[in-house]
Amino acid sequence: MKLENRVAIVTGAGSGIGAASALAMAAEGARMVVVDINEAAAKATVEQIEKGGGRALALAADVTRADDNRSMVERALATFGGLDVFFANAGVPQWPANIEDVDEATYDRIMTVNVKGVWLGAKYALGVMKKQKRGVFLITASTAAIRPRPGGQTYAASKGAAVALTKSLALEAAPHGVRVVAIAPVATETPMLATFMGKKQVDAEGMARYVATVPLGRLNKPEDIARTAVFLASDDAAMITGACVEVDGGRCI
Ligand SMILES: NC(=O)c1ccc[n+]([C@@H]2O[C@H](COP(=O)([O-])OP(=O)(O)OC[C@H]3O[C@@H](n4cnc5c(N)ncnc54)[C@H](O)[C@@H]3O)[C@@H](O)[C@H]2O)c1
Repeated sequence: MKLENRVAIVTGAGSGIGAASALAMAAEGARMVVVDINEAAAKATVEQIEKGGGRALALAADVTRADDNRSMVERALATFGGLDVFFANAGVPQWPANIEDVDEATYDRIMTVNVKGVWLGAKYALGVMKKQKRGVFLITASTAAIRPRPGGQTYAASKGAAVALTKSLALEAAPHGVRVVAIAPVATETPMLATFMGKKQVDAEGMARYVATVPLGRLNKPEDIARTAVFLASDDAAMITGACVEVDGGRCI
């Protein structure tokens, strides 16, 4: 198993990419701290992990709060005795709109969750990993950081910041044997997808419009990202740091 005896925190693990990643990491032997602002959702992921024979702890936490980030790291150390992987995955989408129609509260919300939420996770996890001289800090960015779509400027800016943060943190962490890597998914079939499409629910028109932009002819399943996260968290990716790994079926070509 690729992550045997490792301890991993995944934020936003009550749904979509985070839930699939927590399940995939647990299936590879990691003991999991499953974090979400939605406690019921975090518990549901833990139940699934336990059904599969894995070990996991559900934690209700808001990634925008410093205390919550500090306590998720402390809980991982206290419960499982270490911290090998922190997957800063929680994020919020943007309803498509031109900038003149985007209010400041929307900007503040997106930047606070998608940038400050990652920054705080790094602030509390990387110190521990550097002292241990091992660890992997993963960040869910987006193809929006590389090849944005019209009407998504605020989300694109937040994910661009996440990629820049990845590269900068990778340089800080490298002398300590710690890696920092971003994953850039193209549109992924999770509850968030409808918002990107500007719809209440994903429909045939939205799917056709998005699929037409992906050379491989389909969108991501959450498991496409989960497999990538397992690989990047594992020693198979020992020489990968500071990269932004596109999982995009060719969208960014
Ligand atoms: N779905 C896509 O098309 C897509 C594409 C590229 C990148 N992403 C990114 O992938 C990540 C995961 O998104 P998803 O598609 O799985 O969406 P999702 O809506 O299925 O899951 C997001 C989870 O994050 C949680 N969350 C939101 N704010 C939080 C906070 N402040 N603190 C803790 N948890 C919080 C939610 O409760 C939810 O369970 C996000 O960073 C998103 O920006 C998604």
